Amino acid sequence: MSPSISSFHSFHVQQVCFAFVILLHVITPTPLIATAIKSTGGNETDRLALLAFKQKIMYDPQGVVSSWNDSFHFCEWDGVTCGRLHSRVTVIDVGSRGLVGTLSPYVGNLSFLRGLRLYNNTFKGEIPPELGRLFRLRELRLGNNSFEGGIPATLSRCFELKHIGVAYNNLIGKIPTELSSLSKLTYLAVHVNNLTGELSSFIGNLSSLKTLSASCNLLEGAIPDALGQLRNLTELGLGENSLSGMVPFSIYNLSTLTVLSLSDNQLHGSLQPGIGMMLPHLQIFEISRNFFTGVLPLSISNLSELITLQVGFNNFTGKITINFGGLKNIRRILLYYNKLGSGEPDEMNFMSSLVNCSNLEYLELTANLLRGILPNSIGNLSSKLVVLLVDQNFLFGTLPSTICNLENLRTLWLYYNTFRGIIPTAIGNLKKLQRLALNTNDFSGKIPNSIGNLSLLLGLYLGNNRLEGTIPSSLGNCQKLLTIELFENNLSGTIPIQIFRLSSLSIELSLSQNHLSGTLPSEVDNLINLATLDISINNLSGDIPNGLSKCTSLEFLHMEGNSFHGSIPASLRALKGLRVFDLSRNNITGQIPEFLGQIALTSLNLSFNNFEGEVPITGVFTNASVISVAGNSRICGGISELKLPRCAIKKSKEVKMSLAHILIISVASILVGITLISSFVFCWVKKKRKAPSTGSQMEEQFLRVSYQRLLKATNGFSPDNLIGAGSFGYVYKGIFDQEGSTVAVKVFNLLRHGASKSFMAECETLRNIRHRNLLKIITSCSSVDFQGNDFRALVYEFMPNGSLERLTDTFQSSSNGIRGTIGYTAPEYGLGSEISTDGDVYSYGICLLEIMTGRRPTDGMFRDGINLHSLARMAIPDNVMEILDQVLLNNNEEEVDATENMTRQCQNRANKMKEFMVSVVKIGVACSMESPQERMDISNVVHELESVRDKLLQH
Ligand SMILES: *[C@@H]1O[C@H](CO)[C@@H](O)[C@H](O)[C@H]1NC(C)=O
Ligand SMILES: *[C@@H]1O[C@H](CO)[C@@H](O)[C@H](O)[C@H]1NC(C)=O
Ligand SMILES: *[C@@H]1O[C@H](CO)[C@@H](O)[C@H](O)[C@H]1NC(C)=O
Ligand SMILES: *[C@@H]1O[C@H](CO)[C@@H](O)[C@H](O)[C@H]1NC(C)=O
Repeated sequence: MSPSISSFHSFHVQQVCFAFVILLHVITPTPLIATAIKSTGGNETDRLALLAFKQKIMYDPQGVVSSWNDSFHFCEWDGVTCGRLHSRVTVIDVGSRGLVGTLSPYVGNLSFLRGLRLYNNTFKGEIPPELGRLFRLRELRLGNNSFEGGIPATLSRCFELKHIGVAYNNLIGKIPTELSSLSKLTYLAVHVNNLTGELSSFIGNLSSLKTLSASCNLLEGAIPDALGQLRNLTELGLGENSLSGMVPFSIYNLSTLTVLSLSDNQLHGSLQPGIGMMLPHLQIFEISRNFFTGVLPLSISNLSELITLQVGFNNFTGKITINFGGLKNIRRILLYYNKLGSGEPDEMNFMSSLVNCSNLEYLELTANLLRGILPNSIGNLSSKLVVLLVDQNFLFGTLPSTICNLENLRTLWLYYNTFRGIIPTAIGNLKKLQRLALNTNDFSGKIPNSIGNLSLLLGLYLGNNRLEGTIPSSLGNCQKLLTIELFENNLSGTIPIQIFRLSSLSIELSLSQNHLSGTLPSEVDNLINLATLDISINNLSGDIPNGLSKCTSLEFLHMEGNSFHGSIPASLRALKGLRVFDLSRNNITGQIPEFLGQIALTSLNLSFNNFEGEVPITGVFTNASVISVAGNSRICGGISELKLPRCAIKKSKEVKMSLAHILIISVASILVGITLISSFVFCWVKKKRKAPSTGSQMEEQFLRVSYQRLLKATNGFSPDNLIGAGSFGYVYKGIFDQEGSTVAVKVFNLLRHGASKSFMAECETLRNIRHRNLLKIITSCSSVDFQGNDFRALVYEFMPNGSLERLTDTFQSSSNGIRGTIGYTAPEYGLGSEISTDGDVYSYGICLLEIMTGRRPTDGMFRDGINLHSLARMAIPDNVMEILDQVLLNNNEEEVDATENMTRQCQNRANKMKEFMVSVVKIGVACSMESPQERMDISNVVHELESVRDKLLQH
């Protein structure tokens, strides 16, 4: 298995927009003379317009517009600038002030307005067409808000406009052709909106245009030839649209271009051989994810100002002939996923020219057709290099130990090549390494102990090589590891106990197909976050440890092809998330446990063991195509497709009940109980009081958040914001602009089985959430990302100090930081666990307690850690009567006095009734334990209830 490349590259894709936007910020506003003359005159229209502007602001955290009052002339109001002579408003500048509201159309009355700067706020609603009346307007900066609707065509009347910035909004419709009249426009930024239609040739009329940024929209059609008329254009960003056709030759006439960003479109054709001469000032050249063909022109060597060369995911072919030596500023060379390579012996020579690129940070050659060796000079690459990817090529030879000089490397991928020889000991020098992928090569020798120095390592991929010796115990020092893959090597000896203490492991631990011996130690119980454990095809022996039942995040458990013996521990019933369980080719004895039928397994292989007795016939056992029990000579029964012999003595058939049955029976029990209570109440209680209905309505309002906003908040899901990962996906730290609040964004990996379901369950549950100690969900996002994939995320309050990582990685419900009742739903659902019968048991328990106490779990009295469950638990056994619903009985003194002349029989029944009540409350408490493991088993619940009922009915 290879490390997931897609997440990595999508990071760069997202940079298409961002890299560009950053450059745009360099442009500074036209300086306007700020004046603040005290004036008694002033124009009433302006004053009214400003007050109307103020009135539409709903939230003003910095008190900007709330200070706008008649104590001061409006020319002195915060953010307002007036003309020196006429005292009319010339500029409104309230950018980045956290404002939330809409933009009043009255602004169209500020006829002297030259600058309207509202960027980085949360203005919603339409951009008022009245702005078209501002014939003196030069600067319109509305970027990074939540404006909706179209770009008003009336702006075409603002002939003085030089700057239109409406990027990062929710605008729809076309870019209005009317704007072609704006002959003074130098800057037009509409990126990150939902604009549609073609980029029409009117753009060619905007003869002053220097910047055109329209990336991240839904534009289609061809790039208009007329763009070539914009002789002043320096920045052209059209990435992440649906543009098609070839790049018009006229673009190459734009000799002043510094940014040309066309990534993520459907463009085809080849690059002009003379590009390096024609566009000599290019700094950012991004054309990834298109259908470009042909060679990378040699003339790229002339682009001496180039910072980013991003041509990944195209069909470029041939030898890399570029001499990078003259590209002194280059930081990112991203050539991945092409067909570059010629097979000529000198085709890796371009590497030596890279030595001169002292600013290089990213070198990504993944998935090309490169043949050759990595030269020793690789150690002389820029010390700033953080990512070096040469995986999925045809590279061979040994790994030069000089590579270990690149001490800022965070990611080193060499996988899927044919490198041979040892892994250099000096690898331990790469102290910043987070991902090391050497898998599927011909590496031999030992795994160096020094690997334990890589304390920041998240993923170690060494599978499918010829590594030998033992697994270094020093790996236990790498306490951030999420994944270890060592499969298909010649490793021997026991598995160091230190590996099992890495509770960070949450994605995969794969040691399969080695010669490992010894037992699976009980310390495996630390791997509480792990989704995949594969120790198959080794020489492991001993019992299956009970501790495995603590690994409740497990989805894939492969133990086949070893010599495990003993029976399957009953405690493994806790592994509710298990999907694939392979225990074949061991020496396991005993019965095939019934509980396997209650786990939603999609594949179960128990073949070639020593199982005996009856094969269950529920759950996974009903589908012969996903189970295998072959090669167990002493088993019988099962579904007929298994063609097993009948079992000689049929055991008394266990009553198998669906939850519905159980509920019916238990409700019936309760009803029986209540009926008896009622008759009892007849002789004991006279007055009947209704419990006060305090159940306050709890309706959390979940505002949906857009993908774009999450993208913004997390810096484009930047790896720097990554704070955790687990089998469900990733968690990023994010900052929401307008509130400035720090959040945790949990992004579900929908390719993983069950993630979508888990998202839905989590949403549903958290809709009803009511507990102060539980992390508060702020919002959710169910959308489509820029690649058209489904995208699901939940946004939580951010909890620093790693407690959040427990929420994301750990779904074990005994975790310390998180406890509590969420209405009727099990706490673990709130933490992302899948729907399970344990959760139903919880809900049932809460229902039971509600019936008994007459209080809803959402009752206002429950706060500060007290909830329905803890209330009931504390009352057991002596104070149970105190918490019972007054409807059922009334135990105040007065009433007790009134019962003095009760009959003896009545007293007996009263005692019985108390017993009954205590038992039922006990069951309610046992069912609603916070931790699923501690909860009562549903079959015991039924048993208990029946015996309680029977006892009661004996008289
Ligand atoms: C007007 O705003 C200023 C500044 O916030 C404040 O000090 C003053 O009290 C306000 N005056 C009135 C009449 O509200
Ligand atoms: C200003 O604009 C608004 C809305 O566009 C309009 O209703 C109002 O009459 C205009 N004139 C004055 C003097 O406020
Ligand atoms: C958007 O505005 C927020 C403040 O509201 C700011 O923190 C953020 O950097 C801005 N984003 C961009 C892309 O300018
Ligand atoms: C399997 O276990 C049985 C007893 O439990 C033992 O007799 C037998 O030798 C074992 N077979 C192997 C291959 O280990």
